[in-house]
Amino acid sequence: SSSPPEGGELEGLRKHTESFIQEGKIGKEWADPVKWLIVNGTDIGEEGGGRGGKHSGRRGKVRWFAPGFIDTHIHASQFPNAGVFGNSTLLDWLRTYTFPLESSLADPAKARKVYNRAVAASLRAGTTTASYYATIHVDSTNILAEIAHEKGQRAFIGRCNMDREGINEDYYRDASADSAIADTIATVDFCEGLGRRSDSAKPGQGLDEDRKSESLVKAIVTPRFAPSCTPECLAGLGALARERNLPIQTHISENTDECKLVGELFPDRKSYADVYDHFGLLTDNTVLAHAIHLTNEEKTVIKERGAGVSHCPVSNSSISSGLCPVRSLLDAGIEVGLGTDVSGGYSSSILTAAREAGMVSRILAGLEARQGKEGGGDRTKLMPEECLYLATRGGARCLGLDEKVGRFEVGMEWDAQLVEVEMVKETGEEETELVDDDPGLVQLWGGEGWGDRIAKWVFCGDDRNTKMVWVKGRLVHERK
Ligand code: GUN
Ligand code: FE
Repeated sequence: SSSPPEGGELEGLRKHTESFIQEGKIGKEWADPVKWLIVNGTDIGEEGGGRGGKHSGRRGKVRWFAPGFIDTHIHASQFPNAGVFGNSTLLDWLRTYTFPLESSLADPAKARKVYNRAVAASLRAGTTTASYYATIHVDSTNILAEIAHEKGQRAFIGRCNMDREGINEDYYRDASADSAIADTIATVDFCEGLGRRSDSAKPGQGLDEDRKSESLVKAIVTPRFAPSCTPECLAGLGALARERNLPIQTHISENTDECKLVGELFPDRKSYADVYDHFGLLTDNTVLAHAIHLTNEEKTVIKERGAGVSHCPVSNSSISSGLCPVRSLLDAGIEVGLGTDVSGGYSSSILTAAREAGMVSRILAGLEARQGKEGGGDRTKLMPEECLYLATRGGARCLGLDEKVGRFEVGMEWDAQLVEVEMVKETGEEETELVDDDPGLVQLWGGEGWGDRIAKWVFCGDDRNTKMVWVKGRLVHERK
């Protein structure tokens, strides 16, 4: 089905998960005691029992598999700035915080350090697929591709294009449209080469040899955003994406001053979306980050071209870009995924983005109710299941991966995470021990159905609950 599940309504998929064992994509040891359970499924088994230890009488663990998260928009290059944005809004944030940091990644040694940590943080948070922005520097961007490849993440790698004088700072800009395109091609070629070089592939987890060495890292055409590029650059990137059959990512309609700037820089175009459409940059493999202030006309062209939106609620609130009306995008038939947008967003976790998507939708609903909107804005609210849909399958659809990842179905890849939460059993006995370990913030007290368990994971969960992460059957993160 093409639309996210309604709140509480879940697709039954349990039988398909058993095929992952039968096909050897994961080991038989997972058949038991972990019961097959999935976020988008109704047919859910009972929890495994306690795991022994001193608390086993009163406390246990509940574990389940969920599809790996898909981060449709993250600037790996901005990772050192996470949490730092002061009072800024987009255009001064770029100048004050972002461009100085990104330009410093001309140094490959610094780039390696930053990207090593950025990718590790992403995997630790359960992200099995990430669409990354790097910087304008080819060598450093290729280091990001190498690191994602070595660590085993499914990744799209974007060398950032920004050639327009006056908008970009002279110290951090592509020299010309031609050099921007040539540098982008250098990264495209490098990423294609990664697939042929098997020497850097790490041993898999009992999987066949050919799957171990296949690269999951691909290049993505990345005009930073319309204002940062000349028409020549945008046209060249559109042609490149078409010729080499590449996905595209960029920003759209994030901030009202930015929208105004686009109108001034591209006076012949009908709208912000029309700028991208005109240069062949709106395709069914385009991911548009933010999309907060779109007109209905823009929504229509985005839907017609089959482009997707990366909803970045943490970033949108942090640099006060606005409240994205996600329900209206879904109602328009547009594919929506979630992005962390580090470091506009302060968190590398798509679980945090899912939580904030829910919270922002409630703030918007409250405003609509005050304005007397029919239904009191209730339809505007995103339920936890829907937020998790955006975090997984919604993102897969945006990135053209819907037949491979984002849910558990026969024939799909084992991109998954093992989630573990604490069960505080109500035994009626008096508690005699002081609890001193760190189980994380998700506590089940018995009697919670799966809807409540999922809601607790979304609202109270964090990296501590993500115990193991696999990409295409390879274990890429384990929390000790
Ligand atoms: N628009 C242009 N560049 C950026 C960026 O780095 N982050 C965000 N959030 N928006 C942008
Ligand atoms: Fe961004």
